Amino acid sequence: MNASLAAFLYLVSGVLFILALRGLSSPETARQGNRYGVIGMGIAIVTTLAYQLPAGFFALILVILGIAAGGAIGVWRARTIQMTAMPQLVALFHALVGLAAVFVAASALNAPQAFGLGTPGAMHAGSLFEMALGAAIGAITFTGSIIAFMKLDGRMSGKPILLPSRHAINIGLGVLLAILAVAFMASESHFVFWLIVLVSFALGLLLIIPIGGADMPVVISMLNSYSGWAAAAIGFTLGNLALIITGALVGSSGAILSYVMCKGMNRSFISVILGGFGGETAAPPPSGEAEARPVKQGSPEEAAKILKKAKKVIIVPGYGLAVAQAQHAVREIADVLKKDGVDVKYAIHPVAGRMPGHMNVLLAEANVPYDEVFELKEINPEFAEADVALVIGANDVTNPAAKTDPTSPIYGMPILDVENAKTVLFVKRGMGSGYAGVENELFFRNNTLMLFGDAKKVADSVLRSLE
Ligand code: TAP
Repeated sequence: MNASLAAFLYLVSGVLFILALRGLSSPETARQGNRYGVIGMGIAIVTTLAYQLPAGFFALILVILGIAAGGAIGVWRARTIQMTAMPQLVALFHALVGLAAVFVAASALNAPQAFGLGTPGAMHAGSLFEMALGAAIGAITFTGSIIAFMKLDGRMSGKPILLPSRHAINIGLGVLLAILAVAFMASESHFVFWLIVLVSFALGLLLIIPIGGADMPVVISMLNSYSGWAAAAIGFTLGNLALIITGALVGSSGAILSYVMCKGMNRSFISVILGGFGGETAAPPPSGEAEARPVKQGSPEEAAKILKKAKKVIIVPGYGLAVAQAQHAVREIADVLKKDGVDVKYAIHPVAGRMPGHMNVLLAEANVPYDEVFELKEINPEFAEADVALVIGANDVTNPAAKTDPTSPIYGMPILDVENAKTVLFVKRGMGSGYAGVENELFFRNNTLMLFGDAKKVADSVLRSLE
């Protein structure tokens, strides 16, 4: 295959990736978007293989073996992963992209002739700059993503680790990286290259450890963006158009998603990219004392009676719904209520669950009609008119401390105003806190009824009582 045909096919795959992103922006078009993405990636892979064929049969076999091994692991993980563990899996994927960028840069430095970058000791300064940039962003993404993975997977505390003068340290490391990049371009020294990688590893770690659990969703999309830019920088080194386009698309869409999520959580975008943005708030207060306060506890039968009398019900799903896989039972409750003429709507918080769109995916899987699902801004004014807010496995996203307590880790995050409904039914297993580890004052309110138990079991019991 000649270079112009390869460039054209890469462009076609780039256009398909753009269509894929566009499709993924709405649940209705997401499947079609995914199809575009798969076709685009198929074209890019086949083109790369065909274009690289002259590199030799052995190289081709190596690539195919690599794809087979990686693909097999990917299929196995995709089939076995729990939906609730998706964010940590995504964090690990980002780590791999980052590490791949470091390895490609290292290979290009070791054998520049194989990449068409000149001979060792006589490489172009531009290529050296691209290598340094790709390796640095890749290494930052690698360690940052590993820390994000460990925090999300509970292998490390979600609490912010705040080093003294951490901003000064980060700025110092950033300046050191710039100096090392210049030294690398001037010397083509392998030692300086690996110093760049080491300093970037440290920077990635330091950028993510101060970030508290509540801000992790933004970190994930930010690291997604970083991994895209690392790939794009490496695309320049390799002279690979598909990698440049794909990397730029991942980088910019990740940055846009981070921006949207920052707005959704009322965080500053700039401090997100610089790291440590969630750390200024105090650690969550110990919640033992308040848990001893009395709460009103109800049974599924009581809940069914309240629901039967209601004219308008807003269902608020959260992480616990995903854990219990209660989405089908909840939709069946809604079906019964709708048959009785009750107006039923679903309210989705932008960070409900553990990944962007988590709740939308679950509700779509349970065939909840899209026109009954509303975003925070649309639905919030409606809680005041609702007879019942049925909160299933959600906690932080309803916590009014986000509005009232400046020391709370979730302060500033917009929340669903469930407290304005006449009655709030909370379905959860006990008095446990949510992801951010803060207590929810709503549990103790007069208009709240707690329904303790696994979300699926409680929903099934409510359904039986309704029927
Ligand atoms: P959370 O605040 O984490 O609350 C979930 C609640 O579900 C818990 O309080 C838990 O209480 C209950 N629960 C757990 N398993 C259950 C089960 N089997 N049956 C019934 N209840 C169960 O969830 P949320 O309201 O969806 O808020 C999401 C939080 O995660 C936010 O703080 C957000 O920042 C963070 N986060 C979000 C993302 C994204 S992008 N969505 C990513 C990472 C982190 P019990 O233990 O008492 O049952």
